[in-house]
Amino acid sequence: MSLKILILGVNGFIGNALTTAILKETNWQVFGMDIASDKLSGNLSHPHFHFIEGDISINKEWIAYHIKKCDVALPLVAIATPSIYVKDPLRVFELDFESNLDIVRQCLKYKTRVIFPSTSEVYGMCNEPEFNEETSNLVLGPIQKERWIYSASKQLLDRVIYAYGKHQGLAFTLFRPFNWIGPKQDNVFDEKEGSSRVVSQFISNIIHKKNIHLVDGGAQRRSFTFLDDGIDCLLKIIENKNHCANGKIFNIGNPANDASIKILAETILALAKTYPKYKERAEQVKIIDVDSKDYYGSGYQDVSARIPSIKNAEEILGWSPKTDLNTALKKTLDYYLGG
Ligand code: UGA
Repeated sequence: MSLKILILGVNGFIGNALTTAILKETNWQVFGMDIASDKLSGNLSHPHFHFIEGDISINKEWIAYHIKKCDVALPLVAIATPSIYVKDPLRVFELDFESNLDIVRQCLKYKTRVIFPSTSEVYGMCNEPEFNEETSNLVLGPIQKERWIYSASKQLLDRVIYAYGKHQGLAFTLFRPFNWIGPKQDNVFDEKEGSSRVVSQFISNIIHKKNIHLVDGGAQRRSFTFLDDGIDCLLKIIENKNHCANGKIFNIGNPANDASIKILAETILALAKTYPKYKERAEQVKIIDVDSKDYYGSGYQDVSARIPSIKNAEEILGWSPKTDLNTALKKTLDYYLGG
């Protein structure tokens, strides 16, 4: 069946990769909006891709019309960078929560299925060995720790979407990316320290010959998921065979790629030395410790470990991640440092 899919934030890290995969592997039509299109250049002329430059807080009529017209909506617009949670928490609330609530309500109104990006951050400082979509507690710090505004905003939207589903018939699926990494995530050529998520930040440091900072020593761990694996899972969610994804929450992560930030830094730096153009710069970069208060400010609090249970995705969708950490990092570095 040829689905009509609305992607808001279609030029983003997930949006552009998802669009490329849809256009390559399916006969679905994509209707996409974003404030920019620099990551979409290969897709703009595709007959199944319909792009408009616009802002979700302004172009509301276009959005309402397309929510009505499409079978599925993926509202992917959000700020997802921890330094901004701490520096500008209200902007995070307004965009990630308020603007998206509006869109979810329109999906309810027009009976359009919504596939919504929740986040690994909703589990917060949960200390279970694996985070489970149905049983894990969602553990956040005090209000003064402003980092949690993103997690709290996303959690409340998860709860609102779930309630619209249960009590008013909204067709929904929630997905939780666990530290997806890959090409076109953040702008590694931006010199500003702290403006990116960790892998792009470390690559940016190497490009600009600056030392890599390990926040609070780098013992904290994440499970890194290669973008292409995550996109495969999203395609299965959109496809929704026998309505299997309806009303479900899926962690999309790679438990086998659990690593400390220190090991991550050492691996990226060692790999960077194998790219002739960057070898000399990488040899000058040192890995140094920094206090989180100095790096992010006093509103920051960290997650010490974050491993997903992916049983739901494996059993219900028949999906599992395939890319090990070393390969994922190599493919990411090839994109930025190769050539
Ligand atoms: C991320 C972001 O909130 C979102 O992108 C997303 O919702 C979610 O988690 C996810 O991708 O699953 P976090 O993993 O803390 O949160 O984000 P990063 O900025 O990638 O930081 C990872 C770890 O590296 C943190 O412990 C941070 O303190 C550390 N870090 C970061 C450093 O040690 N040095 C740096 O230069 C940057």
